Amino acid sequence: MDCAACGPCAACGPCGACGPCGPCAAAGPPPDVTDEELQALYECIIEMTEAMDANGQTEPVLASWSESDRAEGSDFMGWTNFASTPYISFTHGERFATNHANDIAAEVYGQYEDIGEMPVGGVVAKPTFSIGDDGQAYWETLFLMEKAEAGASPDTNDWIYTAIMPDGSLMGRTLGMNSENMQFCAACHMAGGEDTDDLLFMEEQYRVQN
Ligand code: HEC
Repeated sequence: MDCAACGPCAACGPCGACGPCGPCAAAGPPPDVTDEELQALYECIIEMTEAMDANGQTEPVLASWSESDRAEGSDFMGWTNFASTPYISFTHGERFATNHANDIAAEVYGQYEDIGEMPVGGVVAKPTFSIGDDGQAYWETLFLMEKAEAGASPDTNDWIYTAIMPDGSLMGRTLGMNSENMQFCAACHMAGGEDTDDLLFMEEQYRVQN
């Protein structure tokens, strides 16, 4: 089973969310997908990944963050998604992105600019994916922000920034592996999020509104 974007092949008739669009799927990038198609595609890759995790399998194509030593690599799929549809994140590799919040973070993330502060233990995950020339979806980098105890990381306002590669390997984590090269995450987030506890949120049109 593959997850294909159906935009390029409208002529093929209604494409199942998970169905490859046949010959038309090879249409060149960037695929002209509607928000609805993107959302269907996203739900499809999440479902596939969850199913593969449940069976203890991974496929090279959707090689997944669940291979990571970090539990968030698969846990995020069960967290609340605050993005109404995937959207392009120019600041995270120009990939399609969504924003999932764990239980602690989900209590407040939907307040967006009024958030005040993220409680300790709140984690926001930003999974990203691309759509290949073949119309298939590929997971890219998984970005994580985790609010640590007060004083744990004064340089980053007690946020821990992590990036996990599609094969599950750790790109880096502040306070951990490759910490120095992850400081740029904090630099950008701290510059833009002074009043929002360094959170930057997606544009309003992509927000789930409570
Ligand atoms: C150049 C600026 C910039 C850099 C560098 C950056 N981010 Fe972001 N980040 C943003 C913006 C802007 C958003 C919200 C909108 C979007 O994603 O396009 C965001 C959103 C996020 C979110 C969702 C939580 C939120 O702020 O609402 C996470 C998690 C995240 N980034 C993690 C990271 C990690 C981890 C790194 C480093 C590997 C990183 N970011 C580097 C600008 C940046």
